[in-house]
Formats: sequence, C-alpha cells, structure tokens
Amino acid sequence: MSRELAPTAARTRVLELRELIREADHRYYVLDDPTLSDTQYDELYRELVGLESAWPELLDATSPTQRVPGVVAEGFEPFPHPSPMVSLDNVTTDEQFHDWVASGDRYLRSEDERRYSVEPKIDGIGLELIYEDGVLVTAATRGDGLVGENVTANARTIRSVPQRLRGDDVPTWIAIRGECYCRKEDFFAFNRAAEEAGERTFANPRNFVGGSLRMLDAKIPASRPIRYFAYALGGVRGATYASQREIMDALRAMGLPTIPEARTVNGAEAVAARYAELVEARDGVPYEMDGVVVKVDDLALQERMGMRTRSPVWAVAWKFPAQRALTRLKDVDWSVGRTGVVTPRAILEPVFLAGVTVQHATLHNLDELDRLQLRIGDEVEIERAGDVIPKVLRALEEQRSGDEREIVVPDACPACDTELHRDEGKVALRCGNFACPAQIKGHLAHFAGRGALDIRGLGEKQVEQLLREGLVRDAADLFYLEEDALAGLERWGTKSAQNLLAQLTVARTRPLDRFLVGLGIREVGERGAQILARAFGTLEGVEAATKEELLDLDEVGEALAESVLEWFGEERNRAMLERMQAAGVAPAAVAAPAGGAFEGLTLVLTGKLEELSRDEAKRLVEAQGGRAASSVSKRSDLVVAGPGAGSKLKKAEELGIEVIDEAEFLRRAGRA
Ligand code: IVH
Repeated sequence: MSRELAPTAARTRVLELRELIREADHRYYVLDDPTLSDTQYDELYRELVGLESAWPELLDATSPTQRVPGVVAEGFEPFPHPSPMVSLDNVTTDEQFHDWVASGDRYLRSEDERRYSVEPKIDGIGLELIYEDGVLVTAATRGDGLVGENVTANARTIRSVPQRLRGDDVPTWIAIRGECYCRKEDFFAFNRAAEEAGERTFANPRNFVGGSLRMLDAKIPASRPIRYFAYALGGVRGATYASQREIMDALRAMGLPTIPEARTVNGAEAVAARYAELVEARDGVPYEMDGVVVKVDDLALQERMGMRTRSPVWAVAWKFPAQRALTRLKDVDWSVGRTGVVTPRAILEPVFLAGVTVQHATLHNLDELDRLQLRIGDEVEIERAGDVIPKVLRALEEQRSGDEREIVVPDACPACDTELHRDEGKVALRCGNFACPAQIKGHLAHFAGRGALDIRGLGEKQVEQLLREGLVRDAADLFYLEEDALAGLERWGTKSAQNLLAQLTVARTRPLDRFLVGLGIREVGERGAQILARAFGTLEGVEAATKEELLDLDEVGEALAESVLEWFGEERNRAMLERMQAAGVAPAAVAAPAGGAFEGLTLVLTGKLEELSRDEAKRLVEAQGGRAASSVSKRSDLVVAGPGAGSKLKKAEELGIEVIDEAEFLRRAGRA
C-alpha cells in the first residue's frame, strides 16, 4: 500500500470515512432507511481498508473494518451478568391476561399508572451488550440467566450493534438487553443458497441465529444476516430513566435499533387491542414474533411490583396462538432411530404454514396414532407452534370419501427386517437388533454430531457412505480409518480425507462429557453426562462406578444409574471402548473449575431455598468447583439447609458436618 497522502490528511480522511460508514450502517441497519447504494458503500469501505493498511498506526478497535477478528477463538468464557437475565411468565388466553392485569391492581396508586409498553416478543436469542464510556466492551448470551457466554467477537460482526454509542451524553456504564434475530426473507435466502451449495440448512431463524452466535470463527456470523433489537436494561450508571418508554427513546438516541412495532398504551383494553392487531399483522412483519411482551411502563411501579424467583411481576409474555392449516395425509413412513425406536411420520401435501412449507409432521408413537385414528388420504389439520416440528391435530372425518386406506403398522423393522416389539408399559415400537444398519447409522451420526464429538465433515451422508463401503461397522472403526481408503471414495479426495483424519485427531481428546453423550447411553443426555464426567473425572472412573456411587449423585435417579450399569455391562460396548482406547481415544478429564469457593467439596442442599431455585443452586455449586450430592454421608463436606430441612439436617449434625443457611451459601459463592 502506498502512502500517497500526508499523515494529517490520511488521518483526517480515515476519521471521516469511519464516520461515513458508521452513519451508513446506522441508516441501513437501525433506521431501515439507507442513504448510500451498495456500490457507494463498498467504495468507502475499500478506501478505508486501503488507508488503514497503508497507515497501520491509525488502526482503532472500533473502526468499522475491525468487526471481524483474524483469529479463531478456542471457546467462550463464562460471563456473570451484572444482574440476572430473567425470563417471563406466559399467558395464552385473554382471560389469563386479564388475571395478570388484575393481580397488579393492588400496586396501583392512580389510573395513570395503568400504562403499558406492548412489544412484539421477538423469537430470537437474547444478548446483553455492555458499553463503558460509550464503547462496546462485552456481549454475552443469556446462559442460565446468572452466567452467560462471552460472545463479544461474534456480536461485533452484527452491523446493527453499534461499536460506539451515539451522542455526547452517553452513560458511563450501561448493560443493554435485546434479541438477536434474522429477518424471514434473509433466512429463506440463506437456506436456499446453502441448499444449492450442498451446505447445511437450518430449521428456523432462531436456530440459525443461536448457532451463528456460538461459532468460534467470527467470520461465519460476519457473513450471516443477523440483526439486533434492544428492549431492556440490565443496569446503568450515569443516567436515570423513569419509564420503559424513556429507556426505548434513550436506546434509539444512542444508536440502537428498537422494535418499530412497540407501542405505549393506556389500560388493559388497549393492550388487548394491540395484541389483536399484531396477531393480524403477523405474517407481514419481517421477523418472527411468537407473542407480545407487556411491561408496566413506569419504572417506579416496576420496582414496587418486584420479582418472583425467576420472572418479574411487572411483565408478562402473551403468546400468539399456534398457527394451523389444513392439508392431506399422503402417506406414513417409519424411521428407525439410533436407539432402535421406530417412529411414524406423516407425509403431507406441501402446505405453507407460519412462514415455512410443511411436508412432514410428527406422529410421535403408536398411542398417538391410535388416538388420531387417521387414514391415508384423510384431510388433516396440522399445527406449528414456534420452532417445534409440526404435528397432526385431527382428521376431518366428515370429509372422507371412502377411498381412504388404513395405516399399516409394520411388524418388521423397515431397515433390517427384524421383528419389532413393544417394551412392556411403553408406547415405543422397537427394533432389538443391535446390528440394525439404521441404528448403527443413527448412532454414528449422533457420535459425530455437534452435541457429541463434533466431527466436522462427517454428516449423515458421509456416515452412510462409509457404512455402505464397509469402511466402518461401529464408532471405534472411525479411529482406524486410513487416508488412502477415504481418498478413493466417490466425491472424496486427498484433501477431504486428510481433513477428516485431522478432525478425528481432535475428537480423540474431546471432553469426557461430550464423549459420554456420544456413546448414546439411554437416559444420559447433556446434563447427565456432565454430572457423570464431573463426578468421576475419567472414562475408567465412570466405567468403575457402582450403583451406590451413581445414586449418590444429585439428579441421578434409578433409571439413569441402571442404564449406565447396563451399558458398561455389555461385552460388545466394552470391546468397542477398548478398541477406541487402543486407537488413542482418551477423552479429556472434566475438571471442576479451579479456584472456586467450593473447589473439591461435596455439598448437599436440603429444605426450602428462597433466593435460588434448586437448579440454580446446583449450578452455582458446580460453577464454584463443587459437587452437589443428594444424600448426606461421611463424604459430604457441607450441608446447605433451608426452612423445613429434616432428616438430612439431622444426619449432618450427627456426623458433625458443617451446616450453613442459604444466605451464607450465597455469601461464600460470592453472590451476596
Ligand atoms: S423483556 C424482564 N422484551 O423473551 C423482561 N424480552 O421469556 C426481560 N424477548 O429472555 C425481557 N422479545 O430473550 C423482553 N420485547 C421483548 C422481547 C423479549 C423477546 C425474549 C427475551 C427473554 C424472553 C423472555
């Protein structure tokens, strides 16, 4: 890059370009009122990039060119929120909404206080933005509400999130809360392009946004059409506001996008009217809304009304009704999952519903099928609520012509022809053949999937191919794959073979909890795997665990304990683990976070807790390096006893174990 300009001229131009680009971003992404054409914008941007590379001394972290970092992150740091990110209570009917209004009446001192902010409930992913002296310093997801994930690098790539707040009089510190979302048309365009390129598509805008925010390489979210709306504060210093309306006005003045459909109205009837308007307007609004959020406008009144455990008394989410449509049932197909459960699925005449074309609906299981009494050819009513898979509600029996056919429940596995059976007392139809190709395929895809070992480049298609070509028969075989054999496969080559082998190298030492999820032990989901991994540390440790040790873990019940013992008791499972270990698979021990207040300690919670829910308390124990156990024994280190504590408290006293109350627990955990 040449330095054609004099230093001061370069500096002036760089500052000018940054301002022009910031203004253009603001007009485009926040005000939705662009002033520059794409070409004009690109020209300014390119000029700025050129000058900044010729004059590196002029670089600044808040320059519009610095939204994407050059390095890929290794993970996300936990971020304790300055105040809890609470959720909202739901109402679904007019009556429930009026009950909520009535429950607030005793706090009212004048009719004037019956003013509400009525805002669309945006179906996206909550994100908190922290600005210090007007500069964006941190962005974090909600997480469990107390501690989120620090996703600052990814959030910086969202063009509607200002790097700096606008105006001269910005607060010294402010935590802004809002929602990341994607417009419906942008989402469809993205999926269409991905489909054409043979890349992964997403089920709905919400998953798309959530997945993008959790990408370690910020280049990925940077290339995706993600936007932001601000709607609340998590705290502020250096400014005061009297109402939600003032907060929204201030946010807008600071350059943040706010929801254009939000209104401030007087009285419950006006809220209901606005709700009805938004239900009506739903399809025409550019983003997905799943209801409205009604907030008491006056902040002093909000303060008076206060909080329940996890949600404010002064706000409520009034959900929209699920959307329904009529279509025809063309057929029912049966698929075999990784656990051998065979599930029916409705194949439908394609119908447009709640923003997507629906061609399939879940029929859950045999009981559901029995209840619905469907026939092939029936006209059926289907429903899609939020991001859940559409389901069949009923058949329109009065519309039958007589040509409809009965649904035949298969008695043999559609994949391997083994006779199917129903577990006693269970509604699931199951294929008991552990060598069933559909189960193996499902299991391998799960093992390589994102919640488990996250082996990129090994999706369902590739798994199917490896199985078909006889290169693998179970998960252990993956770790014995060789470059030549892979490179010779159709549509593969040296490069993709090497990529997969590199992925497998990383996968060998993924954390133990992810590995346990991957094994597909019944009852062991993400949470169960975490508990096992934390408690026993290593794979050998989990394998050696006795029933008593398992049951002693808080949140581990009979079913999970039995299932773990059964899985490790199976000869073929142990043989598979041995072959994995011989191929260098060594899941990383999941150490409790070091330096926490409860590092290495076993705590028992008993009695009623007032500040925290049980789950929050357990997570706090774990976040501070401890382990939550369900029964008091010699191995317990500390018992947290709330009102109503009984036998466990007595036992702790007998054994001479230290007992503290919730306040002391919170104090030690650094939360009070
Ligand atoms: S206000 C105390 N306003 O809905 C109020 N939330 O279940 C806190 N959401 O986690 C939230 N649109 O992610 C608020 N206009 C809106 C919203 C909204 C969507 C989400 C948010 C929150 C969840 C509450």
